[in-house]
Parts: sequence; structure tokens; C-alpha cells
Amino acid sequence: MALKIRKAAVIGSGVMGASIAAHLANAGVPSLLLDIVPDSLAAGEEAKGLTLADSAVRNRLALGALARLPSVHPSPFYDDAFASLIEPGNIDDDLHRIRKVDWVIEAVVEKLSVKRDVLERIERYWRTGLIVSSNTSGISIREMAEGRSEAFKAHFLGTHFFNPPRYMKLLELIPGQQTDPAIVSGMAEFAERILGKGVVVAKDTPNFVANRIGTYGLLATLQAMEAGGFTVEEVDAVTGPAIGRPKSATLRTLDLVGIDTFLHVANNVFEKTDDPAEKAAFAPSKLLRELASRGWIGEKACAGFYKKVKGAAGSEI
Ligand code: NAI
Repeated sequence: MALKIRKAAVIGSGVMGASIAAHLANAGVPSLLLDIVPDSLAAGEEAKGLTLADSAVRNRLALGALARLPSVHPSPFYDDAFASLIEPGNIDDDLHRIRKVDWVIEAVVEKLSVKRDVLERIERYWRTGLIVSSNTSGISIREMAEGRSEAFKAHFLGTHFFNPPRYMKLLELIPGQQTDPAIVSGMAEFAERILGKGVVVAKDTPNFVANRIGTYGLLATLQAMEAGGFTVEEVDAVTGPAIGRPKSATLRTLDLVGIDTFLHVANNVFEKTDDPAEKAAFAPSKLLRELASRGWIGEKACAGFYKKVKGAAGSEI
């Protein structure tokens, strides 16, 4: 069955949500990009008479995410003009607009309770035929859908894009126990034909396939770094360009992913496994917790293992 996806909605305009919306735009699919309200006004907005309810403020929040996307990949768009296909908004005021879309992609923080809450809110406006998916890195699709109706569950699955979606070809599809197989095959066909992805269907196990292996590798490297007292430069020198991975050295990758997000992803396996060896391998890294406690959570904060000087693209100290 070929899916008709004329318009989508992406909930969560962070590192992934914003760049998924951009990649949909690259494929000619317009989308709503909804996030939560900002906690406070930016400097100068109050003086201009703006409030949190003003669309200018709400648009800043959602579109600001696109501007913050990593400078190593200059634009998430094939052509910057495609940005006009994205309508930013606020989940509180604009969620009802998902009634008019064909696919909703949840891309909020990697926390089961937040994702469940967002799905509960999505179901209020859900109708038969509306596909809902989660971009989770590894949270159980079954657990996320607990409490939703049987009909909703039949339309719900994991669609796990990789960072950055413009460049990474892999898309993992994770059906839940009740997902309609026709929706899984339709999504696979749509993702390959329209979004240019290579699709792998994964089981609903902690961190699915790619992140079960990838997270393990990143954590093992961090453990070796801490035990051996290696520097950031040393680790990236031997795990990056020198072995033919020009853009995916270990610590640069962690900065790109977001250290807060990576801690949640490692925790997905740590909490679920009973295997002592796996428990040790996925234990939260002290080094990452230390960086996160300082707010050095990677490129989105302009500081992680590397520090980026604002306004000076690409410069590091
Ligand atoms: P992020 O921290 O950059 O962005 C999360 C966004 O969700 C923020 O803008 C936040 O304001 C918003 N948000 C939080 N609660 C919300 C709510 N109740 N309603 C609406 N918006 C809300 O996180 P990131 O990296 O974009 O991750 C999003 C999802 O994508 C997570 O499930 C993550 O595991 C997954 N993912 C992340 C990848 C990465 O490399 N960062 C790669 C693949 C998947």
C-alpha cells in the first residue's frame, strides 16, 4: 500500500525534530514543527511589547532550532528556500492542527514519561488513518503506547532517523505488537522512495539494532579514555579521520548527538538489562555526567568535548 503523506507534523524542534522537518522539506513534504513554550522571553523582547503568546516568540523557538543545527553540516536543507515548507508553532496552541496532517513524528526528549504524555495529547486529535511515529533512540514502542486505544496502537510505530537526517541513510522502523503491517510496509516504501532512506525493520528491544551496537562502542571508548587518561584530541585522532571516518570521531559524534540525549540512550539499556556484563558496559559514564552537570551538552549548547565560539562558525578552543 503506497502511503499518501501530503503533510506531516513534527513534535519537538530540537536537534532531531528540526532536522527531520528540514529533511521532509527536502523531499517536498511540508510540516508543522511544534515545541513547548519558551520559559522566558529573549533579551529585548519584553521591551518590544512581546509576550510568550506572540507568534514571533513561538516561531523563534521552533525556527531557532534550525539555526542552531551543527555547523559541520552547513545546512540541513538541500536548498535553504525549502525552509518555507516548515510552519513553526507551539504544542499548547497548535496541536489541534495535526487533524489536517497524514503523519505525526514525535521527537521530544528521550524520556518515557514525556513521550507518553505527548502521545496522550496527540490522541486527543487523532483520527483513523493518521500515522503516528516516535523518533526514539531506544525506548520501548510498546511501553510508550500503553494507555492508548487499540486503533491508535495499530497506527503507531518507531521511525528512528539518524543524525543528521539529511546525510544518514539509515532509517530503523520499529513496529509495536499491534502496529498494522500495512502501515509498516507503506512507511518503508515511502521512506525509501520519497525520503531516500535505506530501511531496516527492527524488533522492539532496548535501543533496537544500531544504537544497541553504537552506544556500546561509544561507551567502551569512553571507558578506555578514562582508564588510559587519553585526551580528547588523542581519542578523536585514532577513532576519526585516521581510520577513514572523517566526520564521525567518537567525541565529535557525542557533541553532535547531545550528551544529555546520549546519557538517556545509554540508560535505556542499562535499566532494562539483567546481564551483568551488559550492565557494566552501559553504566552511566562519570565523564559524561560531569559534562552534563556543567551544561556542556554538546553542539546545541556550543560546549561539550569541544567549545564553539558563538558567531565564529567552526572555530574551537
Ligand atoms: P533535543 O534535546 O535536542 O530536543 C528535544 C526537544 O523536545 C526540545 O526542543 C524540547 O523543548 C522539546 N520538548 C520537550 N518536551 C516537550 C513537550 N512536552 N512537547 C513538545 N516539545 C517538547 O533532543 P533531540 O536530540 O532532538 O532528540 C529528540 C528525540 O530523537 C529523542 O527521542 C532522541 O533519543 C532521538 N534521537 C536523537 C538523536 C541525536 O543524535 N540527538 C538521533 C536519533 C534519535
